[in-house]
Amino acid sequence: MNNNINDLINTDLRHIWHPAAQMKDYETFKPILVKRAKGVYLYTYDDKKIIDIISSWWCNLLGHNNDKINNALITQLKDFEHVIFANFTHKSAIDLVLNLQKILPKNLKRFNFADNGSSSVEMALKMAFQYCMQTGKTKKVKFACLEDGYHGETIGALSVGSLDKYTQIYRPMMLDSIHIKAPDCYRCPFNKNRDCCNAECLSYAKETFELHHEEICALILEPLLQGASGMKIYPIKYLQGIRDLCTQYDILLIADEIATGFGRTGDYFACTKANIEPDLMTISKGLTAGYMPMSIVCTTDKVYDAFYDDYAKGKAFLHSHTYAGNALSCAIANCVIDILINDGVLSKAKESSSYLTKRFNEEFLEHKNVGEIRHIGLIHAIELVSNKESKTSFDASQRIGYRIYQNALSKGLLLRPIGDVLYFNPALNIEKYDLDNAIDIAKHAIFEVLDNL
Ligand SMILES: Cc1ncc(COP(=O)(O)O)c(C=O)c1O
Repeated sequence: MNNNINDLINTDLRHIWHPAAQMKDYETFKPILVKRAKGVYLYTYDDKKIIDIISSWWCNLLGHNNDKINNALITQLKDFEHVIFANFTHKSAIDLVLNLQKILPKNLKRFNFADNGSSSVEMALKMAFQYCMQTGKTKKVKFACLEDGYHGETIGALSVGSLDKYTQIYRPMMLDSIHIKAPDCYRCPFNKNRDCCNAECLSYAKETFELHHEEICALILEPLLQGASGMKIYPIKYLQGIRDLCTQYDILLIADEIATGFGRTGDYFACTKANIEPDLMTISKGLTAGYMPMSIVCTTDKVYDAFYDDYAKGKAFLHSHTYAGNALSCAIANCVIDILINDGVLSKAKESSSYLTKRFNEEFLEHKNVGEIRHIGLIHAIELVSNKESKTSFDASQRIGYRIYQNALSKGLLLRPIGDVLYFNPALNIEKYDLDNAIDIAKHAIFEVLDNL
C-alpha cells in the first residue's frame, strides 16, 4: 500500500498544480492523500486522522459526509443532475429561492445563479454597473472597496481586492477601483476598542464618497469580517454606518457574504446580524456546505426592474454560466437551509463559541507572541506578533504561520494560517470534545514553534 501511496503522490506532483501554492514547497512537504472524511475528520491512506478545523477553506458548514445532505443529493440524483437553466427551471431551484428568503434580509428577492464565489462577485459588479448605466447614472463607472478586502481571484474580483500578495503583479490589467482605508480594530488609528467605539474610521469612507461619489457605482465589502486578510473583525456600527453613507451618496452596497453567510458570524448572515439591507449580496461556500460549487447574486426588485423591458431596448443582463442553477447544488442548498433552521445548529454554534472563547483566552492569551484573540460567531483567530507591546508583526520571511501549519498537520490538525494569523473556522455542528482535541494539538503545535525561535 505504501508504494501505492507514494506512486499516487508522485503522479500528483508530476501533473497537478495546487491552489495558492509555491509548488517547490511541495518537494519537501508533500500533498496529503485523503481517503475518506466524516464529520470534522479527514482520514488519510496511511491511517492518519486530521481535524479539519478550517472546514476546508470555510465551506464545509455541517461536517463532511453529512447523512442528511448525502440523502438530499441522492434523492435529486435519482431524478436528474443538471439541465440548462435558460428557459428551463426545476423544483429544487424554485424551492431554493423561497427557502433563501426565509433567512436573507427581506429586500433581497431576485436571484441569479453562478458557480463559485469569484464568478458571483463578477456578476454582482457587472449588474451594479449596468444598473447605473440603465438608470441614467452614466458617470458612475468605478467601484469602491475596502483596503484589505478579498473577493476572489478573477480579474474583476481582484480589482476590488486589496491584498497585495494576490494582486500586485496583475495591476496593469486590473480595473481602476477606489480603495477606502478599512477598519483596523487591532491597531486602531483612533486608539478605540471595537466593542465600544463609534466607528470613527467611517470618516475615511465619508471623505472618499464626498470626493468621488459621482463616479462610484457600488461599494463592495465583506460585512463584519475581512476573512482572507487575517480574520479581521470590525463593529456592527461600521457596517450600519457604511450602509447609510451608501444611501446618502447614491452608491449601491454589495455585501460579499461568501465567507460570512449561513451562520458563520452567529446569525444567518452578517447583514441580518447588523440588521441592514444591502442592494446586492453574493453567497457561496456555506450555501452548499462544501459539497458542490454554487454561488448566487441576490438582489432587489429595484435593481431587477432596471433590466426588465422589451428585448429590443437592449437592457437584458446577458450573462450566463453553464452550471447556473445546477440541480444537485440546489438540492444540497435546500437541505443546508433546512438543517440551519430546524436542527438548532446556530444555538449549538453559539454555545461552542462561548466555550472556544474561554479556552482560547485560558490557553493562548498570556503568551508573549499572542497579540490579539478575536472572534465572531464560531470563528476564533489568534494574531501572532513578535512584540506584544508594539504589536509588531514577525518578519514574513520567518514564515511562522507556515511552520505552525506544518507542525500542526504532523500532529493531526489542519490549521492553515493566514500569514501569522491562526484561526478556527470549523463546521458549525462540531462537538465540544473535537474542539478540545483541536485546542490541545494547536497549543502544542504553536508553542513548539514559537518557543524554539
Ligand atoms: C469574501 C470572499 N469573497 C469571494 C471569495 C472567492 O470565492 P471562490 O474561492 O469560490 O471563488 C472568497 C473565498 O475565500 C471570499 O472569502
